[in-house]
Parts: sequence; C-alpha cells; structure tokens
Amino acid sequence: MTESQKARTAQDSADVVILGAGPAGLVLGNLLLAAGIDCAILERAAREHVQTRARAGYLAEHTVRLLDRHGLAGGLRRRGQEHGVCEFRTESDRFRLDYRLLGRGEQHTVYPQHELVTDLLAQYLAGGGRIRFETGAVAVRDADGTQPVVDVRDADGRPSRWAARYVAGCDGRHGAARRSIPDGAVRRHHRDHGVTWLGLLAEAPPSLDAVGYAIHPRGFAGHMARSPEVTRYYLQVARGTAPDAWSEDRIWDELALRLRAADHGPLERGPISRRTVVDLESDVLEPLRHGSLFLAGDAASLISPSAAKGANLAVLEAELLAGGLTAALRHADPAPLDRYSAQCLAYIWRAQEFSHWMIRLLHADPAGSGSDSLFQDRLRHSRIEMLRTSRTQQDWFAENYVGL
Ligand code: APR
Repeated sequence: MTESQKARTAQDSADVVILGAGPAGLVLGNLLLAAGIDCAILERAAREHVQTRARAGYLAEHTVRLLDRHGLAGGLRRRGQEHGVCEFRTESDRFRLDYRLLGRGEQHTVYPQHELVTDLLAQYLAGGGRIRFETGAVAVRDADGTQPVVDVRDADGRPSRWAARYVAGCDGRHGAARRSIPDGAVRRHHRDHGVTWLGLLAEAPPSLDAVGYAIHPRGFAGHMARSPEVTRYYLQVARGTAPDAWSEDRIWDELALRLRAADHGPLERGPISRRTVVDLESDVLEPLRHGSLFLAGDAASLISPSAAKGANLAVLEAELLAGGLTAALRHADPAPLDRYSAQCLAYIWRAQEFSHWMIRLLHADPAGSGSDSLFQDRLRHSRIEMLRTSRTQQDWFAENYVGL
C-alpha cells in the first residue's frame, strides 16, 4: 500500500466525536471526559488561533453556576469582573438600569471568551482529553444510522476518517455539521434584521461604568467594558461597509456624537486594535438532531449579538447534550437524548424573542421609509419610555437580559 493510500484509509474512532473547540465543544468535551465517556474533539483552526480569537464576554449567572458545578469556573471566578448596570442614551435623556436590583437580581460576569476557551482547553487536556487541532471536518456521513463517520482533512489537506457512535456538531454556523444534514431533514428558520454593526476593540479604558446603548438618529452606538485597558464599541453602519472603511478619527467622532459625549462626558480614546463587520442575523434549526448527529452552540442557532446570549446558550446546550449522551452510552437510556432538541429549543426561542425585541429597541426599522419609518420610530420611542418609567417593564427586561 502506498503512503497516500494509507493516509486515505486512516481511521480513528471515539464514542462521541465533537466537531469544534469553541465554548460548546469544550464544555461538552470536559463533561463527557468527567463522566468517563470516550470522546475526541476535532478543531479546524490552530490552537493559538482558538485561544486568541476575540469574541463576546458577558456570562450570565446561570452560566457561571453551571461552569462552577462542573469545576470549570476557576479562571473566571478569579479574573472575571462582575457587572450589573446598563445605561440607555436617547434624544431626550439618559437613564440607568441597575439590573442586580431588578428581576431576579442577577448580574453578568465579564470574562473574554478566548480566556474561557483557554481555561476549558487546559482543563480538558489536563484530564487526558483527546483533541486534534488543524483538523477540519469535511462531512458527517451515515448520521441516520448507528455508525456515523466524519471525513476530515488536516492542515496539509490529508484526508482521514473518524468513526463514532454519536457526533456533536459544535462547529458554528459555517461548520460541516450543518452542511451534512440533507435538505429537508431539518428546518431552518432565518431572519436577516437588515442591520449591520461595525464591532471595534479599542485599546482604551471604558468610558462609563455601565454597558452603554445609544439610540441616535444617525444609528445605534454601543459601549461594553471588557477590561481596565480594553473596551468594545459598536457602531451601526450601512450594509456592505468594509471593516477598514472608516478612519480612527471618524470612528471616535461618530461614537462621541451618538453616545452624546458633549452632554454626558468625553470618551476615553485609544488605538482601535480590531474591527469586524457583523450583519445582524438570527437562525434556528429545528430539530437540533439528525439521527446520531446533534447540534449545539452556533451550529444549532445563530443569535444576533444585541443581547449577548450566544455563549450562554452554547454552554447550556453543551450541558444538556452531555447529560443525554452519558445516559445513552452509560445506561442505555435514550430518553434524555430524545428530549435534547425540544429542551434546547425552548431556551433558544426565548433568547431569540428577547434579542429580537432588543434589536427593535435599538435601531430604526431599516426597511422603513417615509411615514412608515416615522411610525416605527414613534413606537420605538414609546418602547424606550416604557423601559425608563415602568418598574414592571424593567423587571421583565432584567429577567430576560441576564437570564434564559
Ligand atoms: N471542523 C472542525 N472545526 C470547525 C469546523 C470544521 N469544519 N468549522 C468550524 N470549526 C470550529 C471553529 O474554528 C471554532 O473553533 O468550530 C469552533 C466553533 O466555535 P464557536 O464559533 O466559538 O462556536 P460555539 O462553540 O458554538 O460558541 C458560540 O461563540 O461565536 C461565538 O457568539 C458566539 O458566543 C457564541 C459562541
């Protein structure tokens, strides 16, 4: 047999093959490892890339409790920053909601996602977990049977295969898990909110001690503290804007204008170290299963970043999936796995509804024009007034903002 023939037939196996080493895949891997389930993670990117990728960082209390319960919260307990206030700035006013005192009295822990990923990975490796970096899944085959196979390629393009009893698709929206589900087997609900954000990381301390949401005729602007040295900002921009289309001066001037720095205090400026353009989109796959292939995290549902729910849902789904897979493999009990999709979808639709509400609170209707757009704008104004003045509405907001 030639070397290339050997490579073509190379096959590894694990009871559970996990695609993707983001929060979903790594929480799942850790929980399966702790339960003594044979598993392996296949990650397309290099380790360095996974550990430095800038992402969200707002973890809800239930996420922190969940990670704590499984001994996975050491780093974020030590280095995470507690956070519980948001500030809305509008044409007429600004107001703050201290959501620790509203709803269920919960708060966020700010902990950059790449640090969480780094912690989860270190713990997985320390426990003897198997992971292959620079190994991208190409396709999941035979998922409708009991012996699915994952076709993979390494960084040099060498193909190989992984045999599994179950495959967990935690490889995001553009991953192989979604692609491998035949047309019509799973329904995809999709919504393009028509809004685009320029996401920025600034090498500058936070400018306010709250998450800032500015509603402005020129578009939305957001401020999110990340660490004492780094702050995340968002600017609503026209669809199709290139990440580097705006100069740093233009970005800071526009942020200052929309956040009404002249009225409420100047912004701490600094170099912009990262820029990404995000079209606000949501989608949900239903069900989150095709035979022995299960979806979790962004692979299951994409949620717009307006309410910082993505990582929190991913962690919750990973825990439910770990429980289901453990029951099936350890105790030959398929019931929890059969419930997995419906259980997750209840949380996902709740989060989608709230995120959709936030989008409509923060942005002018992009499709609206003329009198319709004015009508939508008045509705938006009324919505924000309710939030400013009604304790009941504030409790509802707080419960949904930090909860699931
Ligand atoms: N094969 C293997 N790995 C893949 C493939 C593939 N074909 N395609 C993508 N991946 C990897 C990516 O490189 C990434 O590391 O899958 C991982 C998916 O991780 P995340 O994108 O972090 O997704 P998830 O774990 O579902 O976490 C969702 O992350 O993107 C944020 O806003 C999102 O906060 C949410 C959270």
